[in-house]
Amino acid sequence: MEVKVSLFGFGNVGRAVARVLLEKKKFIRERHGLEFKVVSVTDRSGTLWMPEGIDLREALMIKESFGKLSARTNEYETYDMGPKEAIRDVEADIAVDITNDRSAHEWHLAALREGKAVVTSNKPPLAFHYSKLIGKARKRNLPYLFEATVMAGTPIITLLREGLLGDSIERIEAVLNATTTFILGEMEGGGSLEEALERAQKLGIAERDPRGDILGIDAGYKATILHCITFGPKTFDEARVKGIAGITSRGIQRARKRGRTIRLVATVERGSIIVEPQEVPLDGPLAVKSHENAAIIETDLLGGLIIRGAGAGLKETASGVVSDIVKASFVIQGR
Ligand code: HSE
Repeated sequence: MEVKVSLFGFGNVGRAVARVLLEKKKFIRERHGLEFKVVSVTDRSGTLWMPEGIDLREALMIKESFGKLSARTNEYETYDMGPKEAIRDVEADIAVDITNDRSAHEWHLAALREGKAVVTSNKPPLAFHYSKLIGKARKRNLPYLFEATVMAGTPIITLLREGLLGDSIERIEAVLNATTTFILGEMEGGGSLEEALERAQKLGIAERDPRGDILGIDAGYKATILHCITFGPKTFDEARVKGIAGITSRGIQRARKRGRTIRLVATVERGSIIVEPQEVPLDGPLAVKSHENAAIIETDLLGGLIIRGAGAGLKETASGVVSDIVKASFVIQGR
């Protein structure tokens, strides 16, 4: 089955998604019977739009050579259209948001109104407008999928939305931000927060504005999303969030002498979302390293369940996005 896809965002993550779609074309056809046709790609400069399908290799080359899609080449012309216009004018089955646009909920809603499924890795729309977005998707009977918003491709969202359906979840304790883990890990070796942040930025783990990581906002968005899917809607404004700005190398050394270390931990319970630095046992599941995330999910029937894996990174995030594109296609196919 052919599925028409509009991509929004062609930064590092957007291009990683394009690369996976390109490199795994044969795999996706053989394993899932799906043929993705990318009909538009929108970046900050405009929209590349070809109803017959864009050659992603060319699009990647244009972006990587000129820094933007609107650069004129012989074959491609971009249109002066942002996401709102592209959602309205481009005929597509799935709109894929891999931007950092804080107002993206507006065009997610427009996409659903237009009858398009939505796949997103963008966190603020969900952390602030979950009820509205999910309500609209249910009303229109369309997939609205967001695996990559929390723990990148490590499938905690699928686990919580599609598994454990007979369990009552009591609490989730999780390390959800890789940048702070990376920084705290570097500080364990005696480095400063500033030096460690610089390295995290070079590795492409930190947000464009890394204050969101340091202040706990990124983890707060993710914890809010976990609350929404597990216990019901809440917004980020209701989360209690403290970042790692006050943590010192000396504090970490002291914790280590007690067999512990410090991580930015999110605790999500019914009606409560707390993100704060906490001491965790060095040999416990939350003492993750590098770009790993981990969550302990406590349920009445199962006890403690641990999910641990990559929580940031380009191909790691693309894993979640592409999985959702496949899943959305199955739903569309079944209708
Ligand atoms: N800046 C985020 C992190 C990227 O460090 O976890 C993944 O959401």
